[in-house]
Amino acid sequence: MAHQILLLNGPNLNLLGTREPEIYGSDTLDDIVAAVTNLAAERGAEIRHRQSNAEGDLVDALQDAQSWADGVIFNPGAFTHYSIALRDAIAGSGLPVVETHLSNVHARETFRHHSVLSAVCLGVVLGFGKNSYFAALDALVRHLDGS
Ligand code: DQA
Repeated sequence: MAHQILLLNGPNLNLLGTREPEIYGSDTLDDIVAAVTNLAAERGAEIRHRQSNAEGDLVDALQDAQSWADGVIFNPGAFTHYSIALRDAIAGSGLPVVETHLSNVHARETFRHHSVLSAVCLGVVLGFGKNSYFAALDALVRHLDGS
């Protein structure tokens, strides 16, 4: 049975490709989702993707994932830095969640240096552009395989 993985993207990530490309790169979200989906197939995993700009939708997606997903790759966008609701949703899901960021948040404004989510995540991948998502997928699949 293939691992079922939720790829979840938060606010403003729908604008990838045109949003501050010097920070986030020129690939669109569709490009990244397609590439992650292809890589997942090679790794024996299946991806379902959701993006929302709304905190409550992201909470709903994490709650829903409990019934079908084995793990989550999650770029929470700016919610990373202040959403206790998402922290509680991640912790409550009991799922392994890989917090993922395109940019190296530690090399940016100080308000981006702290994540309220990392402590309840399996791990964090950041700073590698779209490759952060690929690294997160590899790490999550290896975790699920027990390797
Ligand atoms: C981001 C980093 C966040 O600080 C920012 O608010 C984003 C994108 C990233 O992928 O680098 O929206 O999560």
